[in-house]
Amino acid sequence: MRYKHFTNANEDVSLISIGTWGTGELESFGLVEKENGKVTTKGIMKARERAVEAIQAGLQGGINLIDTAPCYGWGASERIVGEAIQDFDRDKIMISTKFSLVPDMARPERGGASSGGSYKNVMREVSASLRLLRTNYIDFYIMHYPDPYTDVAETMSALNVLKKRGVIRHIGLSNHSKEQIERAMEWAQIDIIQPPFSMVDREMEDLMRWAKSQGIDSLTYGTLGAGLLSGKVREMPVFDPQDVRRGFYRNLYNEENFAKFLKLLEVMDNIAAAHNCPVGQVAINWTGEQDYVGTELIGMGSPEHARENCKAFDWTMSEEEKAAIDRVLHEMGIGDIELLDWMKR
Ligand SMILES: NC(=O)c1ccc[n+]([C@@H]2O[C@H](COP(=O)([O-])OP(=O)(O)OC[C@H]3O[C@@H](n4cnc5c(N)ncnc54)[C@H](OP(=O)(O)O)[C@@H]3O)[C@@H](O)[C@H]2O)c1
Repeated sequence: MRYKHFTNANEDVSLISIGTWGTGELESFGLVEKENGKVTTKGIMKARERAVEAIQAGLQGGINLIDTAPCYGWGASERIVGEAIQDFDRDKIMISTKFSLVPDMARPERGGASSGGSYKNVMREVSASLRLLRTNYIDFYIMHYPDPYTDVAETMSALNVLKKRGVIRHIGLSNHSKEQIERAMEWAQIDIIQPPFSMVDREMEDLMRWAKSQGIDSLTYGTLGAGLLSGKVREMPVFDPQDVRRGFYRNLYNEENFAKFLKLLEVMDNIAAAHNCPVGQVAINWTGEQDYVGTELIGMGSPEHARENCKAFDWTMSEEEKAAIDRVLHEMGIGDIELLDWMKR
């Protein structure tokens, strides 16, 4: 495992981290084995066990940061993370969790969640997260999405109070623009951001470069293009209507882009074969080479995947191989996909 020093946070963080969105959404991410097409209690329990084992395998493989959020299964992910870390030394593990997306069935147009940056909501959410995570502090507390209805000064004052009390150690922002980050910086020290970034989604590159110049490190999400860059998806997938990724990653999984990704995968296949490694390690390795990436968050639903991902830096990509990837990305015009265009509407 490789580690990077985070400037403002003053922490050494593993270059890959465990993402747990799927951990909270086991069924809709297809991680629950069905019996005769039906979900059973046995299937759910088994998937849960594997999710715990996956987190533990990642930690044993040298990962020291786990990323979660209350909205990943509305508490389910945080609860499983809380269970998985019990046998580990808490001060050797870092946890990032989030706030501001609150279930709100009065707002169906926002998928039943609304932004909650108010002082009262931050305090309410942090209490719930601490309980589910079975811990008395959170290492990175991240505002999941900007709240258009609350002055960021109020949100940051809540975070400063929590930091002063030792309830949270560092402050982060996810899915925020440069202007929104700068505004928050007027009120609090911002230690990290959490934007999307992968070979096929490089829209946030400039933002991450700027953030690094401010001492703010990036926890990038979607490293494996929601599974696509692991090489396991070679045909346009048919997502279950319940699968939350269908909407979130819809710009990756459309016919036009998908055809381009298959070309990229051909180049990645060759590199993987030369190093006798799985294709996913090529994506992880390439991403880790970008100096503005602090840590790559990777969703790992099984201990086998976790172990495989932890070995991604056991080999080094040659300059020719990097150039081959960059060439195909450039030729195919991939990398410019606006993954979160729906957010800007
Ligand atoms: N802040 C935000 O708004 C935001 C948004 C999205 C995600 N995130 C965070 O970022 C994390 C990562 O993003 P993501 O989970 O959406 O996408 P991702 O990491 O790009 O992809 C996860 C997918 O890759 C598969 N995978 C992982 N390792 C593999 C391997 N070795 N071989 C084959 N397949 C493999 C996983 O399958 P298995 O599950 O079967 O292992 C899963 O289907 C999330 O879990 C979450 O913590 C944050």
